[in-house]
Amino acid sequence: MPVAERLLTNEGSTRLGPDPKRPSCGSSPVGIVIWGLSVMSIVHLSAYQLRVDLMTHRESMSTRALAVEPSATLAITAKANQLRAEGKPVIGFGAGEPDFPTPPAIVDAAIEAARDPKSHRYSPAAGQPALRRAIASKTMRDSGFNAEPSGVVVTNGGKHAVYLTCQVLLDPGDEVLLPSPYWVTYPEAIALAGGVPVMVPTDETSSFTVSTEQLDAAVTDRTKMLMFVSPSNPTGAVYTQDQIRQVGEWAADRGIWVMTDEIYEHLVYGDAEFHSMPVLVPQLADRCVVVNGVAKTFAMTGWRVGWMIGPSEVAAGATRIQSHLSSNVNNMAQAAALEAVTGPLDAVVVMREAFDRRRRTMLEMLNGIDGVTCAEPHGAFYAFPKMAGLLNRRLGGATATTTMELAALLLEEVNVAVVPGEAFGAPDYARMSFALADADLVEGIGRIAGLVARS
Ligand SMILES: Cc1ncc(COP(=O)(O)O)c(C=O)c1O
Repeated sequence: MPVAERLLTNEGSTRLGPDPKRPSCGSSPVGIVIWGLSVMSIVHLSAYQLRVDLMTHRESMSTRALAVEPSATLAITAKANQLRAEGKPVIGFGAGEPDFPTPPAIVDAAIEAARDPKSHRYSPAAGQPALRRAIASKTMRDSGFNAEPSGVVVTNGGKHAVYLTCQVLLDPGDEVLLPSPYWVTYPEAIALAGGVPVMVPTDETSSFTVSTEQLDAAVTDRTKMLMFVSPSNPTGAVYTQDQIRQVGEWAADRGIWVMTDEIYEHLVYGDAEFHSMPVLVPQLADRCVVVNGVAKTFAMTGWRVGWMIGPSEVAAGATRIQSHLSSNVNNMAQAAALEAVTGPLDAVVVMREAFDRRRRTMLEMLNGIDGVTCAEPHGAFYAFPKMAGLLNRRLGGATATTTMELAALLLEEVNVAVVPGEAFGAPDYARMSFALADADLVEGIGRIAGLVARS
């Protein structure tokens, strides 16, 4: 089958992982066509133009590039913004970022750095020494993990830290255990390093947490690493201290590496607590990479500063790669991050209160919709409702058979953007961020409820 046709029909995908038919809901050729058919009139996509582009360029591209799925969450946010710019009253539940501004002292630090000629030059690829030291101290302050500054590599966001971790640790064919639903970037970062993501499915019956029995069933002699995140994107799940200890000990006993993503460490609600795996399981520390960043805690998603903390040889390997890939992270952004990690945590306390309030409103409203059930999220700023009950029934002028179609339907019928669960390996669910204004949240869920009630 010719490449263009193959891509348009989703046949013969070049994806490397064990999930070759995972549909995209972003702007890949396949995804554009899926979205394009259902929201064509809104997004003004030209399928004809796409076909032409596919035929002229796709055949020349690498298997690697063709295998990467676009970030569905960024795609849905972009789509919602675009529709808003066209004057549509869109309410977006897609955003994975706080709706608060970066605290002024952090912004001021960047402005000051921009005036200093030293910032106008290259700086060390692993990050400015003062920032690496400050990250080590902040880590001890916030999680109790005793990090050496030499083990810290400052990266272009936590996402880049995930990518580098995979590049440093994985060889082609290495398997990585990935509890699902998973954050969209994980399987792509694994596949880009030649690794094979091995999904370990969870659902609301286990509060979206994975057990060591499930890990036992998934492990093979090719298993190199486990990707762990608590609080979780997309489910908002927070593992208990005991669960984290059990998973950490399981990995340590088998010599399996763990990449533990702590980016939502400060966003836990109610009785839920954040715990760092290598603190609870110290024997894991020399086979563990901690990923973190300033994006979520300090409302700094656009600044692009994250970090990885690993054994010093792993950090040195990541630094070598980074020195060729991107060199130092923007010096002004590093100055802002230094201010953030050495300053107070007041801003995150304010944000957390707002998120908690919105979380409770969202949970109550979603569970009040016929056909929707939502488990309580205990962390991050996402709810992960099951929406299977809205499928195969007429809603407004259309019927959706998948949550992918449902997301398009909601956008079309009531101008509400949610991210379909397919993007996270969990069809039948959707991710809804509660990092948006209270009034918008109520209005948006109210629109879904109204659509369901009158259909
Ligand atoms: C689980 C998780 N890890 C890491 C990141 C990376 O954040 P950033 O690259 O903005 O620092 C995100 C962002 O959405 C995330 O949800």
